[in-house]
Amino acid sequence: ANRSLLILPGDGIGPEVMAQVGRVIDWMERRRGVRFEVTEDLVGGAAIDKHGTPLHDDTMAAAQEVDAVLLGAVGGPKWDELPFEQKPERGLLRLRKEMDLFANLRPALCFDALVEASTLKPEIVSGLDIMIVRELTGGVYFGEPRGVETLPDGQERGINTQVYTTSEIERVAAVAFELARKRQNRVTSCEKANVMESGVLWRRVVQKLHDADFADVELSHMYADNAAMQLVRNPKQFDVIVTDNLFGDILSDEAAMLTGSLGMLPSASLGAADATGRRKALFEPVHGSAPDIAGKRVANPLATILSFAMALRYSFDLGEEADLMEAAVQKVLATGMRTADIMQAGKAKVSTDVMGDSLLME
Ligand code: NAI
Ligand code: MG
Repeated sequence: ANRSLLILPGDGIGPEVMAQVGRVIDWMERRRGVRFEVTEDLVGGAAIDKHGTPLHDDTMAAAQEVDAVLLGAVGGPKWDELPFEQKPERGLLRLRKEMDLFANLRPALCFDALVEASTLKPEIVSGLDIMIVRELTGGVYFGEPRGVETLPDGQERGINTQVYTTSEIERVAAVAFELARKRQNRVTSCEKANVMESGVLWRRVVQKLHDADFADVELSHMYADNAAMQLVRNPKQFDVIVTDNLFGDILSDEAAMLTGSLGMLPSASLGAADATGRRKALFEPVHGSAPDIAGKRVANPLATILSFAMALRYSFDLGEEADLMEAAVQKVLATGMRTADIMQAGKAKVSTDVMGDSLLME
């Protein structure tokens, strides 16, 4: 099969961590005979410096064509003074918008060796494996009307509107159900149907889609505030959580912290499926360009490597290879290798490259 991958390293530590993915790709080709058609291009500040725009039209067009896009991180102090529309982040936002990436996948996976890094008790997080699916292109962050208006009495009023349509709910719920089938087959849908009309619709649409097309998946509904509590009380009760943009923003950040470090967290954003079931997809670590450590060769490459593993699983149907990568990460951590961000007493502090080396040896 032709597997096309567009790599956009971006700024700061982006190129440093992406170099390790490059090595993994070479390794897969040599050792496993799995070939990728890789192209590399600029995004963010790097694209601003070369082209005067954070995402060149040709790069945008290429992103629409490939099976998957893998992005490092964008931004940094060099471009902080630019007006908002010209900032590095706009490159990423343009990709998300034009590819219509409406489903944001944020796994919260607890690596055995890092159990102690969690703020929770080991028995609560060990073996944890949750997937949060956050609706990314609708809801209160985008709803109209919005703005700040002045009232007759001189007060100001800030307005945002939470809106969801049937199709917006259906398409993100379908992603969650499909994912669940490849996992533990359980979906928890979170909203606030007790106080929000959009939540009433959300619950009804998710239930109806379930009954029609995904009756084999176990579905439950939970109020989002309760979900926030349950994530800390007993997170292992969850398999896939599907929720709207606002609640998903909060719940995914909360879940992330159950598992330790920013340098370990991958993500994926998926768009609509084509006739063959293939979805447009962008994979990226949750962390940013970390200008404070850029160029020092200490960045943790694992979040980006795990993002590539998600691409293997979701865009290239290489679940076995993805399992292999994730197992290698577990093993490397078990041997005691730590980049500075996940350093623990008694462990060996290693550079970005040595972490990459060790991974390939597993
Ligand atoms: P950040 O995620 O870049 O860094 C936060 C802290 O975590 C820093 O101390 C950093 O050194 C550390 N860190 C992050 N990733 C790490 C890794 N892989 N290994 C070791 N340590 C790591 O967030 P911050 O500082 O708020 O933003 C820095 C720049 O990144 C800004 O220009 C911001 O706009 C941009 N940014 C870009 C994102 C993206 O490209 N998706 C997301 C978040 C921020
Ligand atoms: Mg957030």
